[in-house]
Amino acid sequence: MFDIRRFGGVIYGADYNPEQWPREVWAEDVRLMNEAGVNLVSLGIFSWAQLERAEGDFDFGWLDEVMDLLHAGGVDVNLATATASPPPWFSLKYPDSRPVTVDGVRLEVGGRQGYCPGHPALREGVARLTRAVATRYAGHPALKLWHINNEYGCHIDQCFCEHCARRFRAWLEARYVTVAALNDAWGTAFWSQRYTDWAEIQPPRRAPTYANPTQQLDWRRFSSDNILELHTLERGILTEVTPDVPATTNFLGFLPGLDYFRWAQEEDVVSLDAYPDPGQPDSHLEAGMVFDLTRSLGGGNRWILMEQATSAVNWRTRNAPKAPGQMRMLNHLALAKGASGIMFFQWRASKAGAEKFHSGLVQHVGPQRSRVWREVTDFGAELRGLTPLLDARVPARVAVMFDWHNWWALNIDSKPGVLPLLPLLGRWYAALRTLGQNVDFVAPGSDLEGYDVVVLPNLYLMDDATGADLRAFTERGGHLIAGYFTGVVDSREHVHLGGYGGPLRDVLGLWVEEWDVLLPGQTNTVTLNGQTVTVTDWCDVLHLDGAEAVATYGERFYAGQAAVTRRATGQGQAWYVGTELPADTLRNVLRSVLDGAGVPHTDLPVTLDLSVSQLPDGSQILHLLSADPQVTQRVQIPAGGHFFPARPGGDEVGTQVDLAPFSVTLIHYPGPVDVSGVKVGGAAATRVTASADLPGA
Ligand code: GAL
Repeated sequence: MFDIRRFGGVIYGADYNPEQWPREVWAEDVRLMNEAGVNLVSLGIFSWAQLERAEGDFDFGWLDEVMDLLHAGGVDVNLATATASPPPWFSLKYPDSRPVTVDGVRLEVGGRQGYCPGHPALREGVARLTRAVATRYAGHPALKLWHINNEYGCHIDQCFCEHCARRFRAWLEARYVTVAALNDAWGTAFWSQRYTDWAEIQPPRRAPTYANPTQQLDWRRFSSDNILELHTLERGILTEVTPDVPATTNFLGFLPGLDYFRWAQEEDVVSLDAYPDPGQPDSHLEAGMVFDLTRSLGGGNRWILMEQATSAVNWRTRNAPKAPGQMRMLNHLALAKGASGIMFFQWRASKAGAEKFHSGLVQHVGPQRSRVWREVTDFGAELRGLTPLLDARVPARVAVMFDWHNWWALNIDSKPGVLPLLPLLGRWYAALRTLGQNVDFVAPGSDLEGYDVVVLPNLYLMDDATGADLRAFTERGGHLIAGYFTGVVDSREHVHLGGYGGPLRDVLGLWVEEWDVLLPGQTNTVTLNGQTVTVTDWCDVLHLDGAEAVATYGERFYAGQAAVTRRATGQGQAWYVGTELPADTLRNVLRSVLDGAGVPHTDLPVTLDLSVSQLPDGSQILHLLSADPQVTQRVQIPAGGHFFPARPGGDEVGTQVDLAPFSVTLIHYPGPVDVSGVKVGGAAATRVTASADLPGA
């Protein structure tokens, strides 16, 4: 359904909000878009109030004009359904369409996304507007893609109002059929919570103490589905009115509220908004993790980077600009990770409103005087030579298992210790990336065929079916590595009895008796390959049952017991890491796993980013990106490569390249790239260590 060839090259563009500007600016905008190489704009995202002046009273005049102007200027449109924020008249007419927080506070108008996703009049209004927009512009030659709503769940990922409570009950009834089954699943024998009728069941609103955990987990599942229903309502209308126009909604990477593995099934092409903090030395790892997730959500197909900043955002406490070259480097990272479009928020930096200090392509200073504009136009020109990348895939031999249901379950209160999943994931991801690996993300239940290594940084919630899949994977010769606090509960959040590790106990060859959650400042030691390191945060106390100890604890009441284990499983191996290892030690363990699996690897500083993509003829491109703001890095590479795109006057690379700060080099090889031949070295090189915490974007 999504054919990138409709766009005549790599997509390049931005959110375009002409309603913020007088008409005279519009023609100038189109002229500048041509200058920058922009070929697609996202139009009308926050235009509901401008399009529907009062209920059913539509004014499309201004949008007709903009659509025609863009088309005449050769710029295509990713047209929004404009449903992202209802106008004030709507909220006044339907006051209970405003969302309600966990504390029962109904939120006021004046911000954005101020709606309850389950409100009947909101759903009617959304359907009316979507149909009106779709009908109006069906067949318009500028229309190439639908942009449905905007960042669902960004501000409101759950609404605790009465409408949603009713929907929740209906959702539960469909899931459990009988109240007795719900009582069983929710474990309501505890704390006198037994229900006798569906009507007694409420959302997990603020309660005197912990709400029932399975109630909380099901509420999260329901809330993702509740918003998804709103999405599929819009999606269905578009499919009906314009069956030939593909549709997408912009995802937010690791957004806590929405199960994007489920959502992605509704998209013709997956798209992403990503705002890594350019002030952090490892912002490219933060970005890369989200890019890899996005490609994985779309089953490995190419995706669109729908929004990012040209420079600074306005919503952190301190908003660092992107340094010269940094935007280009991050754009190349997206391309290396499978993007087929590079877009920004927003075309013109606003003069008024909450986002006036957010960068745009056209900055407040105007195009001529702006370094950002120069970088934007240079990159637009460069993109024209990169069209062959649209056919590339990103081959990964390593998959990281990630599951929204597990994330929700981990975030529920009353655990042995708070375990923030994203930083943990980030540490494992950073280790794999600095070992030179392309990484896919997979959900439980995904096809694992084709991967040599599957990594579970944490899968606290694990069903028997996932355990069986992973067992089959290792028996076929796959290599598995799991982190601590894995396999503890099932999908109802009931504990697997008989030793933690539940469905993986036999695969791993061990069982976990208990855990020693370390207080801030407390440590233990672990000895691995004769080297003793300090560990923090968490220590599983584990017992071997078929596995061998690779590392043992040095202190506390379980001193001498295994901390890291390995078990041969058929053709494969299953590893377990029972504690929070220092970054270098974790990388050493992962290196051993890769060795066992026969996967080539290298050892890179965090300042050098390496990815490999593959063209349809089997040739491969090595993408080398410098994330170093200051020092030129000398990189040894395998022989036989040519610069990509070809450089005039000779394009053989040799065996060494120098990467200036934030620079990018793409090298084309006739066959598979051996990443073990990529080394940073020489006088020009620098080396820093990945920061421990790697938040998601
Ligand atoms: C996104 C949003 C845009 C804009 C941008 C600012 O979350 O979709 O409308 O607000 O952030 O960074």
